[in-house]
Amino acid sequence: MNRLLGKVAVVTGAGRGIGREIALSMAAEGARIVVNDLGGNTDGTGTGKIADEVVEEIRNAGGEAVSHTQSIAEVSGGRSLFQTAIDAFGSMDILVNNAGILRDKTLFKMEEEDWDAVIAVHLKGHYCCTRPFAQYIRETNRTNCRIINFSSVSGLFGNFGQANYGAAKAGIAGFSRVVALELAKYGCTVNTISPGALTRMTIPLREARGEEVANEDLQVGGPQHIAPVVTWLASEAASAISAQILHVARGTVSIMQQPALLKSYKKGSGIWSQDELDTCIPRLYEAKQNADVAVREGAKPVLID
Ligand SMILES: NC(=O)c1ccc[n+]([C@@H]2O[C@H](COP(=O)([O-])OP(=O)(O)OC[C@H]3O[C@@H](n4cnc5c(N)ncnc54)[C@H](O)[C@@H]3O)[C@@H](O)[C@H]2O)c1
Repeated sequence: MNRLLGKVAVVTGAGRGIGREIALSMAAEGARIVVNDLGGNTDGTGTGKIADEVVEEIRNAGGEAVSHTQSIAEVSGGRSLFQTAIDAFGSMDILVNNAGILRDKTLFKMEEEDWDAVIAVHLKGHYCCTRPFAQYIRETNRTNCRIINFSSVSGLFGNFGQANYGAAKAGIAGFSRVVALELAKYGCTVNTISPGALTRMTIPLREARGEEVANEDLQVGGPQHIAPVVTWLASEAASAISAQILHVARGTVSIMQQPALLKSYKKGSGIWSQDELDTCIPRLYEAKQNADVAVREGAKPVLID
């Protein structure tokens, strides 16, 4: 308890799913919370007041929270979200960019509005909410802040039928690496979560495969398993950890590899001939395949009791 005492946390998309669990978890650790949620459908259409319900839940448990129901996909929404934290609590320390939607289609069927809507909520949404916070950190010289962004295996590994979502989620990983560099001098860490949880976003995908989602599945695979890791990253204990991607799902927490050079050949002089590349690139590819095997082996979870 009280790992976040005195901190002000803003959580986007916190009306349900993973965001709601993060808001409840951070409030239980003493943070004052701004619960943002537009309250719409999974495809981004519609609105609702679900953020107010989470605020009530936090207050009933003895915590402090206010709601914000504007879309974070617009610069004005990101600005007013930041302002809500300042007006309600006088400061801001933690930003969790969690809000999200889906418009899954193969590229053959993906219309411009499906592309734009998903990029706007995920990738632009990260910009809209992070920029006012970053400016505030710099202008007030505020130290020890935390930004926790939400990517996905869809963008980091690739997933059929999600070119818009995968592009946004890969972009978020790149965004996080850059912002981590830009805010390092203020002691602000910027990390990325790749979650796996049964929520309204993923349950229909399971059901479409003919798999039933029972209560026991929700116990072992629900969004409550993601929140403690996000809360820990927001705490003092995580001050040395930045620009990392953690994959969190069903009681497992893993650290992801980041892009890095693995093996190289260098030409002494001149430019590569096609015959030389016939030799070098297959060797590079072989080195990559061998490294992949070693990485898969190393990633097997170690059981903690
Ligand atoms: N559930 C998973 O397995 C999984 C996997 C990979 C990534 N993610 C990511 O985790 C995050 C949370 O997903 P979830 O599974 O809890 O989904 P969810 O649909 O349960 O919750 C997302 C919330 O974001 C809100 N939201 C959407 N657009 C918004 C906007 N413009 N402004 C404000 N709020 C908005 C929604 O109203 C909703 O309450 C998302 O970024 C998602 O892409 C989830």
